Amino acid sequence: MHHFTYRDGVLHAEGVSLVTIAEEVGTPFYCYSTATLVRHYQVFRDAFGDLDPLICYAVKANSNQAVIKTLGDLGAGMDVVSEGELRRALAAGVPADRIIFAGVGKTRAEMSFALEVGIRGFNVESEAEVEALSSVATELGKTARVAFRVNPDVDPGTHEKISTGKAEDKFGIAYEEAPRLYARAAELPGINADAIHMHIGSQITDLAPFHKAFTLMGELVSALRADNHTITHVDLGGGLGVPYAGTNDIPPHPDEYAKVVRETLGRHDVKIAFEPGRMIAANAGILIARVIYTKDAGAKRFVIGDGAMNDLIRPTLYEAYHDIWPVAEERCGGPERITDVVGPVCETGDYLARSRKLPEFKAGDLFAVMTAGAYGAVQAGTYNTRRLVPEVMVNRADYAVVRPRQTYDELINLDRLAPWLE
Ligand code: LLP
Repeated sequence: MHHFTYRDGVLHAEGVSLVTIAEEVGTPFYCYSTATLVRHYQVFRDAFGDLDPLICYAVKANSNQAVIKTLGDLGAGMDVVSEGELRRALAAGVPADRIIFAGVGKTRAEMSFALEVGIRGFNVESEAEVEALSSVATELGKTARVAFRVNPDVDPGTHEKISTGKAEDKFGIAYEEAPRLYARAAELPGINADAIHMHIGSQITDLAPFHKAFTLMGELVSALRADNHTITHVDLGGGLGVPYAGTNDIPPHPDEYAKVVRETLGRHDVKIAFEPGRMIAANAGILIARVIYTKDAGAKRFVIGDGAMNDLIRPTLYEAYHDIWPVAEERCGGPERITDVVGPVCETGDYLARSRKLPEFKAGDLFAVMTAGAYGAVQAGTYNTRRLVPEVMVNRADYAVVRPRQTYDELINLDRLAPWLE
């Protein structure tokens, strides 16, 4: 469900025409809908009712401060994976005690900064890390709340590059190691390990792996309590998939996901936390680009747009499918062609859609790459010295540029000539 619809023949974001934004901002740009972000957060939260979980939005999905603040103002906590994300969340006004710090390679400097600002807790992924955290916390005279990220060795059935919960993945501690590591943590000064964390992967569209992993977490809560550990929280990570291909691939509704949570953990008397990223942000954003040229190669048509792999790398990196919609509704229902939508970057892998049956686009047409609000702008780069893509947020009839297009000077002047070249 999202708020990008045709009105008077033109694709709108809520009440704003995308033609209007394109004229002011130029193309390409990302456009986010406040109403969709808010709705997704609320649907997820409401699915759990009186379980009243802590929902820590996974900032990595979309870290624009306007997005963070929109969600933070609704009461969301944040899941961050670097000092940079932590600083962004704080800059967007999220209270530190609603922020959890995850990630497999936190440095001592990052731990120290997070302890100084007083974050809620750390998701810890190894024995070496908990020892480092203990030493940093002790030096600062603080206590770090810790959840070990437990790797349940469950195959989430998703793309291999976004699967994290199998034994061979780099993430977390082995399930069998958990009792030993909670015992170790109990001996360490400056550490209070009162929670368990897991996250098995992203874009998961089947509830069975969740059921399996959550059941294992419930069993672990009982086992750790039997060892006299106080376990008050279980953080179930993120991972719920979104419909990338319209009605052809509908992932489970948050209500069904919540049912699995109740079934597996409801009786364990723990506070539940989540780290959803994609299901909050993906459908709340689109990438708008303009066709520069078209060309035909045999039966195939290439639509060469001004949006490229440096703006949205998901198709190239994960073979990801994103629907492509024309901004002018009149193109729908007209003739269709088998089309590759490509960008100007000098790589064969520079495409946004491949071998797709699409309306017959013409030079100058605007098109939307749908479901691009998560892992879109955050993974954008400047390859081929293309300026970092701007971001726009819409709220009903208003819109604002929430990250302006980088200028060529800003981009190029990041370099310094070495003294011997001056
Ligand atoms: N928690 C942890 C520990 C994670 O590693 C992730 C995502 C999340 C939560 C949020 O997962 P979500 O609810 O968004 O599925 N760049 C890739 C996705 C990478 C996901 C990394 N971890 C993509 O574009 O598909």
